[in-house]
Amino acid sequence: MAKMWAGRTDGLTNSLADDFNSSIGFDSRMYKQDITGSMAHAAMLAACNIITSDEADTLIGGLEQILCDIESGALEIDMTAEDIHMFVEQVLTERLGDVGKKLHTARSRNDQVALDVRMYLREEIDTVSAQIRDLIEALIDKAQAHKSTIMPGYTHLQRAQPIVFGHHLMAYAMMLLRDLERLSDTRRRMNFSPIGCCALAGTTYATDRRFEAEKLGFDGICQNSLDGVSDRDFAVELLSSLSILMMHLSRFSEEIILWSSWEFKFIELSNEYTTGSSIMPQKKNPDMAELVRGKTGRVYGDLLALLTTLKGLPLAYNKDMQEDKEGVFDACDTVKMCLPVFTGMISTMNVLEENMAQAAKKGFINATDLADYLVKKGMPFRSAYKISGQIVAKCIADGKVLEDLTLDEYKEFSAVFEDDLYGDIDLLACVEKRISEGGTSQGSVMAQIEYVKERLNK
Ligand code: ARG
Repeated sequence: MAKMWAGRTDGLTNSLADDFNSSIGFDSRMYKQDITGSMAHAAMLAACNIITSDEADTLIGGLEQILCDIESGALEIDMTAEDIHMFVEQVLTERLGDVGKKLHTARSRNDQVALDVRMYLREEIDTVSAQIRDLIEALIDKAQAHKSTIMPGYTHLQRAQPIVFGHHLMAYAMMLLRDLERLSDTRRRMNFSPIGCCALAGTTYATDRRFEAEKLGFDGICQNSLDGVSDRDFAVELLSSLSILMMHLSRFSEEIILWSSWEFKFIELSNEYTTGSSIMPQKKNPDMAELVRGKTGRVYGDLLALLTTLKGLPLAYNKDMQEDKEGVFDACDTVKMCLPVFTGMISTMNVLEENMAQAAKKGFINATDLADYLVKKGMPFRSAYKISGQIVAKCIADGKVLEDLTLDEYKEFSAVFEDDLYGDIDLLACVEKRISEGGTSQGSVMAQIEYVKERLNK
């Protein structure tokens, strides 16, 4: 069949070229945005006396019916169409005759597609944001339950200082809070309407772009028509926000994987979120966490692909830009799959407090507190640091921990040691002493929880 744009040519393209050129396989998911956008366009054309209000009513009614029919299944999207915009217009014209042909006055597919993608992606941002909130809430619940569960905190993956598990979890809540903010910033900059930029230069009709933008829930219009049709920053920004989010989930996944290994055994994932091995009967594998970590690479790939596609493009629209959609849709789909699974995995995991406590007792994670004790007694920090290191070396040689040494043994290193040192190196005391804002004391963890809750309610 000849194309709707037949004219200059007969529009009888080779079927190979058709398949290659067509985007309906991936842009049909924007049918609702495309139709809603067209309804606003018809209303604007009438408001500006470019078409009559009867014509607008007919167009809007026809579009409404197409939307209904697609949703009920009565109208199947034709996968041989060039794209969703052509498909909708084609059906409209078949159903309405000549009036249908008026819809495309004062617009182009170039501004139309830019509009549809923005509308589609801002909804995706809302969905992903709600999922992030659910995850943050699950983290808050767990953090509250474990505000005094001692575990070793690490640097270089070496036991470093005691912390509470709730503090560790709240670190991720903070990251996710920033992810939420990044998405909301992205949405704010995305929410400007390109419709009315037309092919590239605007139009000779006296249109009202603001009318259309307002009807479609935009905060304003793209101010330069060339920019309006060639800008894909909003998709790059979204991909970048999603990449950062996935990076956070991936780091968290890595910890979940470590913690559920026999080497750590800090947590046990629920059966609902683990898998077995087809050969090794003893296995319980953290596949969900591994897949989230794995899918992170895919989202980064989507970001890099779009940046690369855009980097050499002259203004304004180029067909290369059709390549913007699959990647950004894939990233949204991936993130939307990962988040609920992650939340389920976190809220059902069993925290093995005793194992965390045992691990905290080894590794001399209270050595800093021993040094701080000496400082409290008047010794300069560097000297205190050295003596504490020598005491740790003695313990290692004797197979002991700091709590095992007698006061007499301590006094061999420094006369300032008194009986009160044991209170200062007790792990719970070590944690509770870290009262600095943002530290690991129970009070601080509760303050962090309050802070995050407040931010969520804003
Ligand atoms: N399917 C196209 C895309 O996604 C729509 C815009 C086509 N514009 C054009 N001038 N051929 O980019």
